[in-house]
Amino acid sequence: MAWVADLPAALWDDTDNNELPHRSSLRLLENDTELGPGHAVHATIQASGDGRYSFWMNVVYFSSSDGSDPNTNGRTYAVERAPEHLDSKSVLRAIKPADGIQWSAPDRPLRCALLGLGNRGRALARIVAGSAGVEIAWLVDAAPARVAQVQAEFDLPDARSGTDFSAALEDPAVDAVFILLPDHLHRVAAEQAFRAGKHVFLEKPIATTADDGKAIVAAWMASGSVLQLGFVLRWAPFYQAIRNVIRQGQLGPIRVISLSEQLSVVHGASFLRRWHADAGQSGGLIVHKSCHDLDLACWLLESRPRIVGSLGGSSTFHKPAPAPFCSQCAVRATCPYADTGLHEHRTEAERADPTAHGLDRCVFRLDDPIVDNQVVSFELENGTRGTYYLAMQGPVRSERRITLIGDAARLDGIFEDGRFTVAYTDPGREPLVWTTKGRKLGGHGGGDLSSVTSFLNACVGRAPSPIRKVEDALAGLVFAAAAERSRTSHQMVTLQDKDFQVDGAPTTA
Ligand SMILES: NC(=O)c1ccc[n+]([C@@H]2O[C@H](COP(=O)([O-])OP(=O)(O)OC[C@H]3O[C@@H](n4cnc5c(N)ncnc54)[C@H](O)[C@@H]3O)[C@@H](O)[C@H]2O)c1
Repeated sequence: MAWVADLPAALWDDTDNNELPHRSSLRLLENDTELGPGHAVHATIQASGDGRYSFWMNVVYFSSSDGSDPNTNGRTYAVERAPEHLDSKSVLRAIKPADGIQWSAPDRPLRCALLGLGNRGRALARIVAGSAGVEIAWLVDAAPARVAQVQAEFDLPDARSGTDFSAALEDPAVDAVFILLPDHLHRVAAEQAFRAGKHVFLEKPIATTADDGKAIVAAWMASGSVLQLGFVLRWAPFYQAIRNVIRQGQLGPIRVISLSEQLSVVHGASFLRRWHADAGQSGGLIVHKSCHDLDLACWLLESRPRIVGSLGGSSTFHKPAPAPFCSQCAVRATCPYADTGLHEHRTEAERADPTAHGLDRCVFRLDDPIVDNQVVSFELENGTRGTYYLAMQGPVRSERRITLIGDAARLDGIFEDGRFTVAYTDPGREPLVWTTKGRKLGGHGGGDLSSVTSFLNACVGRAPSPIRKVEDALAGLVFAAAAERSRTSHQMVTLQDKDFQVDGAPTTA
């Protein structure tokens, strides 16, 4: 039932591929009537026809509405982009979560090193260890107890291990490394990894300062290696679907974007402890945590910040500590911020004595190393104006919200609910409701699995590097660092082209 036709190069940027199997806004018409569903699985088009189609890379796989041969049935087949005014049913059909990223064992094992086996290290170790044909060749952590724990938990007795990541990076047998270390160590590890020719999955924020981020990007550009960043929300079906709605022009020109993250008190308090509470090691909370959301503003709207202003400070936590550590504190039982151990992975020794590593350090202090609320206002180069806030006060659940206001519609969503709605300016038009329907998607709403899998596919040559443009790598960090500069200087910050470029390097890998 399936036929294939070449597409002109001008359409290749608007087709599906392995990483973005539902991104295309192209529609196929037979004698001016839309065929469908689009984004169809190729085997199903072949087996069942019925007008199914798929715009895939540089071709369209398709079937006619009744199984007849399109070469001889006398009908006309045409491609068009989804118009701004689709009825809601067609829109719903076009928007699907990007969860179709596949992984299968490569011809030879892909050998990986995991650097840093804390919270993130264990979360990604689970995904990597569960990927067929991927070998965890090295486990590295400054704390030997964490190495032993991950080795036992994921049954990796043959993995080499150590406390110094240089040894793993110099091992010629290693193809790819996951840098899951505290933020201030990203630069030294990433530069060394690229110099050694490794493919790199680098956790967000890319670095703690824009200069360090640029140095990493320069090393990457010189290496020809694959780069993936821990901006996992870009890979979550929720945000992928919002990007589809925007790309389809459903909202019209977007005038305002509003993003927020409210952290539950326990989650928020975890940033007042360990290395997170040292802005020198994390870049400050807006860089460490909010780079996700500021990156999303750029990625969703395919633009970058021009003017950034920010205010923030420590409100709830600015008071004298009743005791240095929760385990020694008389008011522990009634303190909502008391350490629960829920937000850090701990070894047995750390559980027995949390004070030893600052794990249950009191969150109250007068030197305010970390804000507990911050707001950002900004204008993007495409003219969209936006706001973002981060707060650690209030109800129990951590929650990210997004609103986009365009001339044609308004979109409102809550990431944790896996649901957004689009209300149209045209009163006759039925609102759109998108939901994950309670499907279990895994960490970061499916973003963890998809981002790692797309990285693995690129490492074995099945897909291009997930990050290809310098600006794509730097935007979230440059944006967040500008917000922090604005907060501390009480000045608006204006960004220029050079802030998103690396001296002497091309803009695309
Ligand atoms: N993508 C996301 O949503 C997301 C979520 C959480 C954290 N992160 C990022 O992941 C990274 C790790 O964060 P985390 O929460 O897992 O921190 P963590 O403190 O739980 O883990 C860091 C680990 O690195 C080890 N380490 C420290 N210095 C080392 C060194 N010199 N050599 C080897 N090991 C060393 C520590 O012992 C610890 O086990 C950070 O960059 C963080 O910003 C990303």
